[in-house]
Amino acid sequence: MSDQSTALSRRGVLRAGLAGAATAAGGAALAQAVASNAKPDPAITEVQDWNRYLGPGVEAAPYGKPSKYEKDVIRRNVPWLTAGTESSINFTPIHELEGIITPNGVCFERHHGGVAEVDPAQHRLMINGLVDKPLVFTMEDLKRFPGRFSKPYFLECAANGGMEWKGAQLNGVQFTHGMIHNVWYTGLPLSALLNEAGVKARGKWVLAEGADSAAMTRSIPMQKALDDCMVAWAMNGEALRAEQGYPLRLVVPGWEGNMWVKWLRRLEVGDEPWAQREETSKYTDLLADGKARRHTWVMDAKSVVTNPSPQKPLKHKGPNVLSGLAWSGRGSIRRVDVSIDGGKNWRQARIDGPALPLCLTRFYLDIDWNGQELMVQSRATDSTGYVQPTKDALRKVRGLNSIYHNNGIQTWLVHANGETENVEVS
Ligand code: MTE
Ligand code: CO
Repeated sequence: MSDQSTALSRRGVLRAGLAGAATAAGGAALAQAVASNAKPDPAITEVQDWNRYLGPGVEAAPYGKPSKYEKDVIRRNVPWLTAGTESSINFTPIHELEGIITPNGVCFERHHGGVAEVDPAQHRLMINGLVDKPLVFTMEDLKRFPGRFSKPYFLECAANGGMEWKGAQLNGVQFTHGMIHNVWYTGLPLSALLNEAGVKARGKWVLAEGADSAAMTRSIPMQKALDDCMVAWAMNGEALRAEQGYPLRLVVPGWEGNMWVKWLRRLEVGDEPWAQREETSKYTDLLADGKARRHTWVMDAKSVVTNPSPQKPLKHKGPNVLSGLAWSGRGSIRRVDVSIDGGKNWRQARIDGPALPLCLTRFYLDIDWNGQELMVQSRATDSTGYVQPTKDALRKVRGLNSIYHNNGIQTWLVHANGETENVEVS
């Protein structure tokens, strides 16, 4: 991985001047026409094993797994990124997924001290600090507390795309954009628990603390805590996975993933932020003048074409469906535009299904590819009217020191043979 990345960053790429490319019908067919004198196709004429023999019985898979032919649909890490796997990232294979819900087994995982294996019977959630009545909940208490509901949200790590700040580096959308998942959560409104404890008038902040070895802690403004935060124990219909914070995690819709404290064990109400490690030396952005941006919680609108991308080259001339994901922490996705010529011309993409607020949104662009080089980009506009910026525009404001909150427009260069690589245009 490191060799490949260095090679790519050196290549850097400046390539403009692509012709209008790939709009004329190439004449290639969508399926093979069957000629009467065609050679027999064994996929049709031979009886296959699965058609001939009994398959395994129901007891073979008490908990189902994907087909063995889907073995490449897995999380992957970037070994050089972190010193060890306990404080690391395993990226979502977004180039292999359809629709908007991320299956539980491939949700990216990010932990600072490994996966805590918490016994739910021993797990407690404490609420203390500036409250009328400090409280302790067991998991059973939470599950019978009135007000339970379910809702889908994206979670994006603030560091998603962080390795791309200085230039195109990683050759795969899984690595450039895969610190994201979109899950249907079940749990309680955080406001219900805070109201039960009774927040004192001076209580303007909540400190969320995890039970893992990192004991991760983040300060959350009371307004957000009471607005739409959730305390969740289920994802996509089943208990949270251990790596996603089993048995309990905080959901902070639209805000950076680091605040979504996993293995949530304590909520302290205070009158000012705590200035913990994760909100001072980390998750702040050092600007060129030496000042740092802090409290940069919201994830701004962003999008990326997942297919084609370096791990999913174009294989056929003629009709092809470009596909991708868009999201915004400030609302819903209003439109996505796609360019195949490096940003000179744009076409409005087709949005698939309802564009839910604070959720991944799937888009498509049907193209007819004649085998010309393409520079594929996507640009999201959200319900506030905000338009996803170019990487150059971001760097102008934020300098080159940043890691977090890189929502710049991604470019994929599709070569004539369909191979696709991570590049930048300027
Ligand atoms: N909570 C605890 N207790 N410990 C952690 O290391 N990592 C945070 C956050 N919550 C973390 C945590 C970070 S940086 C992110 S991006 C998200 O969890 C990742 O959530 P995921 O593992 O479900 O993808
Ligand atoms: Co993170």
